[in-house]
Amino acid sequence: MSGAAAGPVRVTHALGGYPVYVETGALARLGALAAEHLDDRRIAMIADAAVYRLYREGRLGAAGWDGETITFPPGEPSKTREEWSRLTDELLRRGFGRDSGIIALGGGVAGDLAGFVAATYMRGVPYLQTPTTLLAMLDASVGGKTGVDTPEGKNLIGAFHPPAAVIADPSTLATLPEREFRGGLAEAVKHGLIADADYFGWIERESERLLRREPAALERLVRRSVEIKAEVVSADEREGGRRAILNAGHTVAHAVERASSYRVPHGEAVALGLLAESALAADLGLAPAEVGARVSAVLSRLGLPVRLVPPLAADALLPAMASDKKNRAQIIRFALPSAVGAMATREGWTVAAPEPAIRKALASIL
Ligand SMILES: NC(=O)c1ccc[n+]([C@@H]2O[C@H](COP(=O)([O-])OP(=O)(O)OC[C@H]3O[C@@H](n4cnc5c(N)ncnc54)[C@H](O)[C@@H]3O)[C@@H](O)[C@H]2O)c1
Ligand SMILES: [Zn+2]
Repeated sequence: MSGAAAGPVRVTHALGGYPVYVETGALARLGALAAEHLDDRRIAMIADAAVYRLYREGRLGAAGWDGETITFPPGEPSKTREEWSRLTDELLRRGFGRDSGIIALGGGVAGDLAGFVAATYMRGVPYLQTPTTLLAMLDASVGGKTGVDTPEGKNLIGAFHPPAAVIADPSTLATLPEREFRGGLAEAVKHGLIADADYFGWIERESERLLRREPAALERLVRRSVEIKAEVVSADEREGGRRAILNAGHTVAHAVERASSYRVPHGEAVALGLLAESALAADLGLAPAEVGARVSAVLSRLGLPVRLVPPLAADALLPAMASDKKNRAQIIRFALPSAVGAMATREGWTVAAPEPAIRKALASIL
């Protein structure tokens, strides 16, 4: 695996690209990085209120950040058109013009919501992502997807609007609640599984240091996951649809979230999804059974679930899966591993699975 300290990770796309700074202490340079990447724009910070409260005095003050800030109540319920509209109106009321820039501070909710404000404000203004959860650092802040939820489902309204830069400071993770932190680790396991066997092995070996949140281990983890996500999203335009491998574990995960009315947090649903989909890959003859055994062992070591508690019936999970918006028609498709570190490509980047095989795979987590 790579992931050794170096300059920022570069994400490229058709319109250009942007750097992802993964540095312990990077938030202390926020003022300077904002000046570098948002030029002399008038900057508004849109922040998760709880995160802003944590950092207002200490880090942000020290970072030379004394700009205007608008906060929103923490949590997924803020990711709505109503909150988008309130934030946008507040920017308009304060007279922000086409020459403004936005800084999104917080977890994935801040990134998606403030990113969507940036995507639509005056037909689009540049913004910085400053992710403060593990999930946001190694997943949500990279890739340029922004948006809000609706009563019909999550992330149904949005825009592709890549940030000008991402500033990931792993030292912010020290205050993250344990369950949020472990949930983020499930996405890192996914990155190892889909693209890098050495990284997967490193997570297996370093699970103790990771759970203790040792700064050097966290920086390495975030950097390698960002490199993998950056490589996949950068390559997608050339390799038509490879981005689908980032959906590994997520067909089942989304069904678990939906069927449990979102009582199971995303990261835990991803852990279960990776396990069930590894079982599915083995059943379809795409991967050896050893893959599922290693996924199960590393998830347990990281304190992530390998059984759905309380269980849901496969009959409840299957319909929740069929309505996944990433599925064409009602055939359920999965991004499946062929080995630790490699994905099956028999039918392109996703595989259609028959219902009996899906039921059997679900039984492994129920
Ligand atoms: N755009 C994408 O590509 C993409 C990818 C994956 C997920 N997402 C989205 O990300 C969202 C989930 O992100 P999340 O898990 O970061 O949730 P979140 O933003 O709600 O943050 C989780 C909780 O942690 C708190 N918090 C954040 N940083 C903290 C810190 N440093 N210390 C203490 N508390 C802190 C927040 O106040 C919140 O209560 C979902 O809406 C999901 O759809 C987007
Ligand atoms: Zn995810």
